Amino acid sequence: MAQTVHYLKDYQAPDFKILQTDLRFDVADPHTTVHARLLIAPQQNGAPLVLNGSAELCSLKLDGEPLPESAYRLADDTLVIPHTPSESFVLEIETRLLPYDNKSLMGLYGSSGNLYTQCEPEGFRKITYYPDRPDVMSKFTTTIIADKKRYPVLLSNGNKVDSGDLEGGRHWVKWLDPFAKPSYLFALVAGNLAATRDTFTTQSGKNVAIEFYTSEADKAKVPFAVQSLKNAMQWDETRFGLEYDLDIYMVVAVGDFNMGAMENKGLNIFNTKYVLADSRTATDADFEGIESVIGHEYFHNYTGNRVTCRDWFQLSLKEGLTVFRDQEFSGDRASRAVRRIENVSLLRQLQFAEDAGPMAHPVRPASYEEMNNFYTMTVYEKGAEVVRMYHTMLGEAGFQKGMQLYFKRHDGRAVTCDDFRAAMADANETDLSQFALWYSQAGTPVLDITGRLNAADNTFTLNIKQTIPATPDMAEKQPMLIPVKIGLLNQQGEAVAFGPSESAEVQTEAVLLLNQAEQQFVLHGVNEAVVPSLLRGFSAPVQLNYPYSDADLSLLLAHDSDPFARWEAGQTLYRRAISANLAAIEAGAPLPEHSGLIHAFKHMLKQEIDPAFKAMLLRAPATAELWEGADNINPLHYHEAREALLDAIAKACLENLVYIRTWALAQEEASGLAAPYEYHPGLAGVRALLAATRLYTIREERHGMMEMAAYSGEQAASHEKTVCARLQDYITRYEQLTPNMTHEMSVLNTVNHLEESGRNHLLNQFAERYADDALVMDKYFILIGASHRADTLEQVQSALHHPKFNLENPNKARALLGSFTRNVPHFHAENGSGYAFIAEKVMQIDAFNPQVAARLVQAFNLCHKLEPKRRALVKMQLERIAGMDNLSKDVAEIVGKILA
Ligand code: TRP
Ligand code: ZN
Repeated sequence: MAQTVHYLKDYQAPDFKILQTDLRFDVADPHTTVHARLLIAPQQNGAPLVLNGSAELCSLKLDGEPLPESAYRLADDTLVIPHTPSESFVLEIETRLLPYDNKSLMGLYGSSGNLYTQCEPEGFRKITYYPDRPDVMSKFTTTIIADKKRYPVLLSNGNKVDSGDLEGGRHWVKWLDPFAKPSYLFALVAGNLAATRDTFTTQSGKNVAIEFYTSEADKAKVPFAVQSLKNAMQWDETRFGLEYDLDIYMVVAVGDFNMGAMENKGLNIFNTKYVLADSRTATDADFEGIESVIGHEYFHNYTGNRVTCRDWFQLSLKEGLTVFRDQEFSGDRASRAVRRIENVSLLRQLQFAEDAGPMAHPVRPASYEEMNNFYTMTVYEKGAEVVRMYHTMLGEAGFQKGMQLYFKRHDGRAVTCDDFRAAMADANETDLSQFALWYSQAGTPVLDITGRLNAADNTFTLNIKQTIPATPDMAEKQPMLIPVKIGLLNQQGEAVAFGPSESAEVQTEAVLLLNQAEQQFVLHGVNEAVVPSLLRGFSAPVQLNYPYSDADLSLLLAHDSDPFARWEAGQTLYRRAISANLAAIEAGAPLPEHSGLIHAFKHMLKQEIDPAFKAMLLRAPATAELWEGADNINPLHYHEAREALLDAIAKACLENLVYIRTWALAQEEASGLAAPYEYHPGLAGVRALLAATRLYTIREERHGMMEMAAYSGEQAASHEKTVCARLQDYITRYEQLTPNMTHEMSVLNTVNHLEESGRNHLLNQFAERYADDALVMDKYFILIGASHRADTLEQVQSALHHPKFNLENPNKARALLGSFTRNVPHFHAENGSGYAFIAEKVMQIDAFNPQVAARLVQAFNLCHKLEPKRRALVKMQLERIAGMDNLSKDVAEIVGKILA
């Protein structure tokens, strides 16, 4: 099937404005009839009216008169009316939908007997015929009519302005949104839902009603999300001076949802995963996820809704900026340094891989086949790094000046990434034209840096070379403007002051602005041997090479005042050690000793370090991160090389690790917050450290551990004393059933790879205990998909038939299948069984939910980097998928790009 490619360069302003959109939804199961009344103003005489749409069209009227079939054309998901009045006119469209048959979860769909919408980016056209593009902004009213018993709650954007009862047990509600918006921000919810209410008083004294809608049973799990929303509203006022603009803010949680959440004006719709939490069923990470996604959607009200995107190529205008804002929100709430490292680690694992593969695209893509495929790590996470670079270069005050100018110029408009850049530049009277390349050039820049001390004139010179790798869309790249934040350490690990230029005052940190392919920066007043601390705070999304010795890295790991650079030194040490193991494995030679790393590791364990940060330092790079820049990859060798290093560390440092594990446990108990459990950022760090040490110590303690796990309840309680006192924390934690999901998951993660039947026993027990909690069952399916046990594929296959599994539910599909695609030894099994299994599921899911299928199929993005045998196996599966009848354009685009 020939694909239609959309190009940024083809952008044309709309020919028609929609001055007013009045919608009426008549819910009469199984059908919902939608009546749309559009007041349309032509912009340009003569252009045909082209509306997007794929719903069943029932009737069409122009200025009150039925339109004869000869007056319009309906084909290829568009409705074309060649001749329309030259002045404003009214078009009335009636469409008919079957929401409960809609498993794509785009447009209007049913879930557990309720109705929900998802319109971004192009879901509105599944509801009615409309210029479904973000630069067409209109005021909306929505009237919903439905059975009052089945659908007591009827919601849409804006304020409720009227309601009433009808004959036959039906009722209606009318909503009016005073802000003009593009169709992608439209939302409707109808159903039997319970409200949790609160209020927020804005800085100017306005009272905002807060309403969260969930099932009645889930009401108890809503308070944390409500509090997070209030925190976000408060934070946006204090940090950005932005105050909420409607009288009501609604959040609806739904279990069937394609992504995390959606910022529909005044009526956010959320995946239950990012709303529901209580101490018994949610982990610390779950609470943190809720806070950040609630913040993200709230922040979109300005960066996305008030100022929106001109076209979908500009998606990062709202997403990159809003991710930056939610990252700052989380960082200001707690543990800034650790949050930063987590974000960077995610970016490097997933976005760097995307940028180095067949789907590589710039932050502002130049073309796409299916827009749903461009809600990517590049647009979101690299986009946020691009915004962060403005912040790094301009400082907080300069950045806020830029934001103010951006809102002043563009409030109520649909604009571009260039408009954002211009606001930043103009507000600070600076030239940021070279910075535009960050939006148009894909690929992760590589910085090769060397440093040289010149004792004769007390200078330290950094030579920085930038290379931007070719990507499928572009071979030759131009040098970019890259902020490189640096410091210097002497041999004692103390900060060394320097002058970034001959005349400048000395300082201990500077942001160097690299803007050429190769450039020298001379730092003055340096009269001793130094180790440079580079790319502090990860000041740019680049890969950096510097010829550090292992001793340099140990020094940075022990002393760098910048937490990111310090963590990065540790990561480099891990990476080098794993590479050495890999070389030995591939050569069939004995594994090296790693005494340098182990020495540095032990030293780090003994240092007094914030527990959350120490937990990050204990974490070696993920296997997928090690593939960066590699080819002919045998994933199993990488896995083995990494495992061998972790085993070696566990063995050499067992005593220190057990000490920390015991300390962390005692620390939590002493806090008085452990039982009843409460989320608390400080304690979350202690628990993260506990979990990280368990993952090491289990490597040495697995036998004793499983003996314990085979027992349960009282038996275990008495047994534990006699078997192995060292393992007490596992058992007490698990069997006393402290209502604390973080610990429960930590224990299950720790035992998840063990072959002993005790592991199955613990998992089964867990699945039975939480059978009725959908979100906890997702955790169970993740454990099944992630296990390194030999029988994992069989366990995954039988999990597909588990009564609580449902392939049509994206959370379930992602839990079981997504975790399996990240399970290196099984997904990449030598016989191709992992590839065949995932290909089959992609095809199965594609028939009803292309968006989810297109995500899953990207597990094959690695194809060309694999060693030849696996490459052939993957290609075979991709060709099978490509040959399928009725393949969605979502999956076709991805498979086409991998096979190209
Ligand atoms: N705009 C949403 C966000 O980032 C995400 C989103 C885009 C989405 N398309 C979607 C969510 C489709 C669900 C389904 O906040
Ligand atoms: Zn977003």
